[in-house]
Amino acid sequence: MDKPQERAPDGAEAPADERARVVELVRELNRHNHRYHVLDAAEIPDHVYDQLYRELEALEARFPELKRADSPTLRVGGTPVSELQPFVHDVPMLSLQNAFGAEELREFDARLRRLLGDDAPPALPYVVEPKLDGLAMELVYEDGVFVRGGTRGDGQVGEDVSHNLRTIKTVPLSLATGAPARLAVRGEVLFDLAGFEEMNRRREAAGDRRFENPRNSAAGTMRQLDGRLAADRPLRFFAHSVGVVPVGISSQSELLRSFAEWGFQVNPHNRVCLGLEAMLEAVFDLEKRRPELPYEIDGAVVKVDTLRLQDALGFVTRSPRWAVANKYPPPRVRTVLEGVLFSVGRTGAVTPVACLTPARVGGVTVSRATLHNSDELRRLDLRIGDTVEIERSGDVIPKVVQVVPDADHAARTPVSYPATCPECGSALVQEAGEAAIRCGNGFGCPAQVRGAILHFGSRTCMEIDGLGEKLVDQLVDTGLVKRPSDLFRLDLPALVGLDRMGQQSATKLVAAIHASRGRSLDRVLMALGIRHVGESTARDLARHFGTLERLRAAGVTELAGVSGVGEVVAAAVASFFAEPAAQAELDALTAVGLRFEPVMGGAPAVNTLGGRTFVLTGTLPTLSRDEAKRRIEAAGGKVVGSVSKKTHYVVAGAEAGGKLEKARELGVEVIDEVALVTLLEGA
Ligand code: IVH
Repeated sequence: MDKPQERAPDGAEAPADERARVVELVRELNRHNHRYHVLDAAEIPDHVYDQLYRELEALEARFPELKRADSPTLRVGGTPVSELQPFVHDVPMLSLQNAFGAEELREFDARLRRLLGDDAPPALPYVVEPKLDGLAMELVYEDGVFVRGGTRGDGQVGEDVSHNLRTIKTVPLSLATGAPARLAVRGEVLFDLAGFEEMNRRREAAGDRRFENPRNSAAGTMRQLDGRLAADRPLRFFAHSVGVVPVGISSQSELLRSFAEWGFQVNPHNRVCLGLEAMLEAVFDLEKRRPELPYEIDGAVVKVDTLRLQDALGFVTRSPRWAVANKYPPPRVRTVLEGVLFSVGRTGAVTPVACLTPARVGGVTVSRATLHNSDELRRLDLRIGDTVEIERSGDVIPKVVQVVPDADHAARTPVSYPATCPECGSALVQEAGEAAIRCGNGFGCPAQVRGAILHFGSRTCMEIDGLGEKLVDQLVDTGLVKRPSDLFRLDLPALVGLDRMGQQSATKLVAAIHASRGRSLDRVLMALGIRHVGESTARDLARHFGTLERLRAAGVTELAGVSGVGEVVAAAVASFFAEPAAQAELDALTAVGLRFEPVMGGAPAVNTLGGRTFVLTGTLPTLSRDEAKRRIEAAGGKVVGSVSKKTHYVVAGAEAGGKLEKARELGVEVIDEVALVTLLEGA
């Protein structure tokens, strides 16, 4: 290989030979990448690939103008982006209606034939595909080159995550000849389970926290600003649909074949089948294979194959009539309860955590599960050594569902709450009407300090980059940080002494801490972790009072008068500001230079909801909790956690529980997603 050469002088044009060689190298490297990652059929050994890659790198370094938009050197993740930009979908990304089991699939088939009437063929042609439990993405190609990609978001606008998508080896940077000039491919980004486990092993070895859940970790990874993180993680992309079907394609199965021809990875378990019975067989066959799949699926998607029939069937609000997602039940397994540990959170709440004999649940090894609180512990009547059934569903932490009864259960030791805090030894208390048992020692308890500092630096609060769990543990354990304000007194000599902290990362951290002094009042309020003060209450308070001084001076009555602030919240805020420790900390934060900047923008831009309050419950068909909340707030409404007489609407989705009942009891209006969207649009 050539020796690395200096960058050519500016203005010097690359010679034709080099130009041609770059084109050839990019083409060859992309072809080998596709053979290796998509087809699993490498043609050349790794070291030959690496040699070609280095040759390309060297040429690009010498002649930067030769760097192409589809160069494989882009896959390592370049300069981090400063924030995620909105990604507008030209054609909205829809969602699917759910079905649970054979009966509902039969109804689906019957409904389609009814709708098609005379047009219905004797047996409907279907494609059955795994419902990949990942993150929906859209990838846009122009003239065969990947130009940008983004998340689904609310279906209309997501976030641009091109920098991360480029690092995924199964995302083609350029398409094979024959691909349409413009193409918006949709599909799923998900973790490879083996790679996920391997990554967790490496994280544990490095002293980092394990990731519990492949789907959430994939989502977290894709939202990172620095592409180098995603480049390091075993993610893949499967194509399953498009924004606009390219001309000349007349069925879903043909579309899937074309995806493969153009260079995408298409799921090998997709099945074409004719008629209801064949469709049911494919759905249940897939369920049987589920445990062996190298990635997670949570159901089967059934689509009518023929586009002409799809067109005839059309859409309802946000989902196609011609497709349905048959959900499989969440995977459950049995394992043994080895012990229970009690973890102390930021607010002092002490949560029991089950320590289990490691078991594979839906492809992920689980050794911990949440037991929620003392009520749950009592309900389960857990004893050490019991065989328990655990469940992992979608994006929730694994939980213990029940004890498997056996003869020895009664003789085993019951699990009970400790009387004192496992972290600081002070007495635990349970407030009337609350399930949580707390350590009331506040900043006297190291676990609460760790939690408070981590929260203070988190993305929605002070957004201090680099202030992660491991570091916070060290800062608190060494006594360098006892309060948030101590962060602002950290200097290089103190930091450089810590584990895994070099001069460079210490400098960056100090800069990030100092930059956070300009955060607006609402974010500081949220960062302080005042009980009941989340994002929207913090914003209301900051908007109403404008300055920290005025807020500190307000009494309960004035606080309760702020729109969106109820009595409970007002009391919590007033009691926080009355605490001597909180007062001292606020003074300290002021002294270290926090500015508590006023919130920009005043009242929300569109105020269609005029301050009305909403409670969300159950799973909405298309909107996630976060999306629904964001849209309600953007329209001037408020989302609260519990139903009271003051609640204007309860938005109920599938499997809504207690909150729905409460709404009925209190006579609060219950609406569904469609009605919510109508309200949002101001109709
Ligand atoms: S097709 C109009 N096919 O499931 C239908 N979606 O609620 C467009 N999903 O987030 C989607 N596997 O990203 C389709 N084989 C598959 C899928 C799939 C997973 C996701 C999809 C969306 C959700 C639909």
